[in-house]
Amino acid sequence: MKVVVLGAAGGIGQALSLLLKTQLPAGSELALYDVAPVVPGVAVDLSHIPTDVKVTGHGKDELETALSGATIVLIPAGVPRKPGMDRSDLFNINAGIVRNLVDAIADTCPSACIGIITNPVNTTVAIAAEALKAKGVYDKNKLFGVTTLDVIRSETFVAELKGLNAANVHVPVIGGHSGTTILPLLSQVEGVSFSDEEVASLTHRIQNAGTEVVEAKAGGGSATLSMGQAAARFCLSLVAAIKGDNVVEYTYVQVDDSADAAFFAHPVRLGPNGVEEILPYGELSEYEQKAKDDMLDGLRKDIQLGVDFVNA
Ligand code: NAD
Ligand code: LMR
Repeated sequence: MKVVVLGAAGGIGQALSLLLKTQLPAGSELALYDVAPVVPGVAVDLSHIPTDVKVTGHGKDELETALSGATIVLIPAGVPRKPGMDRSDLFNINAGIVRNLVDAIADTCPSACIGIITNPVNTTVAIAAEALKAKGVYDKNKLFGVTTLDVIRSETFVAELKGLNAANVHVPVIGGHSGTTILPLLSQVEGVSFSDEEVASLTHRIQNAGTEVVEAKAGGGSATLSMGQAAARFCLSLVAAIKGDNVVEYTYVQVDDSADAAFFAHPVRLGPNGVEEILPYGELSEYEQKAKDDMLDGLRKDIQLGVDFVNA
């Protein structure tokens, strides 16, 4: 099992790499790539932690070496938001970064599973899909937008509100990863009921949680530690599934029945080849149905922007 982190010297990259160094199965390889010159140092630093996970660091001219033989590639490379920005404001810089990195994946390790973290995720996943199609190696079952942060936030906020142990709270989150496209299905949280006011305020908080962090960091970036944890959870689920475990995660994938949008976060059964089965997200409350209907146009436009970026 070889996991590659592209953008490994950044805020997310370092937190994620630490968690993977300590939690990947024994015998795994962890390759860290970044254009920042500190990346070999990050790898040396991690390599002093006594686990049976081999860490290598790769600077800007070593992308191919980093990617060679990869099973899973995680991409948190790119710029984060500052206060006052939307995720879509990152498109101009991050679209090209994701395109170039995915082109290299297509050339070097086309059968790897790819987890896109770089924002705007609604769009960068579509860019990755089109880039892989252009190279003739697209496998929709192996491309994921990592939306796990929305899930862990929802679990935390629900547990806080209801005085529960967050470890026992499971909240489905469907849609995309920005503003109102993030749709927590609070009506499906087992054993918990919410008043209409609680649904409205929790939904709003979950949809704006990224902005909450951006404002609290006051120009110093966006969520890195919670995102590192979320991406590690997603990656370790994928690793477990590749090894044969039965695992379901909510993640933003291409859906064939595009009644919603071409990409949509669903519960997905993971398996040795990535997506094993896209599961239905079940019945929505009236509030959730309206929220979904209202956000679909925006999500479809975000996706089209990515398609046009590659095909223009
Ligand atoms: P950061 O600035 O701390 O780190 C980004 C890293 O990417 C830097 O080390 C930089 O050198 C590197 N990088 C830039 N261009 C590169 C390239 N071409 N190849 C390799 N590395 C490159 O930012 P961060 O806080 O880690 O955030 C990274 C991205 O993740 C942002 O776009 C942010 O919006 C996004 N993000 C997504 C989620 C999510 O839920 N999906 C959550 C938080 C942040
Ligand atoms: C988040 O949800 O924290 C990330 O998408 C980063 C951001 O810009 O909000």
